[in-house]
Amino acid sequence: MFNKKPEIHVANGLFISFEGIDACGKSTQVEKLAERLRADTFNVLTLRDPGGTPISEEIRKILLSNQHAEMGAMTELLLYEAARAQIVYERIIPGMRERDVVLIDRFFDSTTAYQGYGRGIDLENVKRANLLATGGLTPQLTFFIDITWEESRRRKSNGHMDRLESEDQDFFNRIRNGYLQLAQTHAKRFRIIDGSQSPEAVHEAIYKETKKITSGWILSRLK
Ligand code: TMP
Repeated sequence: MFNKKPEIHVANGLFISFEGIDACGKSTQVEKLAERLRADTFNVLTLRDPGGTPISEEIRKILLSNQHAEMGAMTELLLYEAARAQIVYERIIPGMRERDVVLIDRFFDSTTAYQGYGRGIDLENVKRANLLATGGLTPQLTFFIDITWEESRRRKSNGHMDRLESEDQDFFNRIRNGYLQLAQTHAKRFRIIDGSQSPEAVHEAIYKETKKITSGWILSRLK
């Protein structure tokens, strides 16, 4: 009984995204949750967007390079979507078939927040572009790790700043407000997590929410 792999109660693997402004701690939290779920014996895949495939990692370099200060907002939007279209078909969809859980560091909500609310691209156009890249694939759960611009700057104060991170306070305030708006509109999918807490406390909050979804399987395995 202990060795028997339970039926996954979602038809495909569970797909969870992590969102927030730069330096909110997403990457750390993806790793912490993956480690904890693996200890619960789930088969977990972790990815980042933009990235996760050779093509998407190349596009990521273009997007983040400080040498491309002249990049237009529409070019930026389409490059994020191009990177995403590739990771969806090359990694996420196969990952959801083969694994129990796929965790991703950013997904299309980042585009709505950064290119829509941040850059001011019409939100309906952003929605269409997101749909084109993802084919409608939507995470079951999205953690928005919320920190202020001041906290983000404090955490980044000694580090290298890429093209996006070099933007001003107004840009990041628009993005943060955009995320809060998204969390309100998609309240069933979003969980707002206070990112100013310690990484351990943030992790516990995230794990608790994730367990609400996975506990059915865990309990059935322990019986
Ligand atoms: P990361 O540093 O969190 O991996 O993300 C790379 C940067 O790209 C970050 O500043 C947020 C930005 N970004 C967008 O502007 N739009 C998007 O769709 C995504 C996924 C990221």
